[in-house]
Amino acid sequence: MSAPFSIDRLTPHMGAELHGIDLTRPIAPEVAAALRQALTDHLVLFFRDQRLDFAAHKALARVFGEIHVAPAAAAWAVEGHPEVTRIHADADSKYVAGEDWHSDMTCDPEPPLGSILHLVTVPETGGDTAFSNMFLAYDALSERMKAYLDGLTATHDAARVFAAIAPPGTVFNQSSHPVVRTHPVSGRKAIFVNKQFTARIDGLPKDESAALLAFLTSHVQRPEFQCRFRWRPHSIAFWDNRAVQHSAIWDYFPQTRSGYRVTVRGDRPF
Ligand code: SIN
Repeated sequence: MSAPFSIDRLTPHMGAELHGIDLTRPIAPEVAAALRQALTDHLVLFFRDQRLDFAAHKALARVFGEIHVAPAAAAWAVEGHPEVTRIHADADSKYVAGEDWHSDMTCDPEPPLGSILHLVTVPETGGDTAFSNMFLAYDALSERMKAYLDGLTATHDAARVFAAIAPPGTVFNQSSHPVVRTHPVSGRKAIFVNKQFTARIDGLPKDESAALLAFLTSHVQRPEFQCRFRWRPHSIAFWDNRAVQHSAIWDYFPQTRSGYRVTVRGDRPF
């Protein structure tokens, strides 16, 4: 059976823009199945001209699972919709969300399966999001490095990202996860340490841990692993947080970029 939408690939390795689908309407089971397959195949899905309200945004997330609510991000939740995080930057901003390479909320014991970002207002130019394929990043390592990483775990800490900006009383999770995780659907191996949340590699002396993390977090940024999305108002990006890292590029100050993110609950990495 052919897919109920057309697929325009961004690069040979990752990213696809899906056309001919209206996400504001209820999603039929066969469309839901095709969307899940498309995420497995392309790792990041992009959609244009989707004026999602919060109910439709959450309904899209529920095609993939339950919604993840992160304690550390509670301050940015939309009033009355704790599952929806506001992503906003303007002329008064001192920082933007996700402004360095990361996967979302790896500090949580069960980090999200994926995130769905809907931008309503975008700058005239700039404000792209870059994505990097962690399967490719793993595959590109030498066999000796892969063997060394096998069995290592790392500690991820919410305080690294949120301590300076979250209100008093915010809960900061800390979790230990494999440095290389196996994707629960495709079975492929992916690097699972990131610059924002990963504090240290467990059980290594401090300087060895720092050197290894410096290598891995720089390696994952190689341009040939990446695709880059140019936003328009009411575009959507949906990334598989288990397979990609992303970085929000803040090159548009003092313009406004604003929208909403809903995150799908994931499993404990293995
Ligand atoms: C995020 O890290 O979720 C924000 C991504 C973006 O604003 O492009």
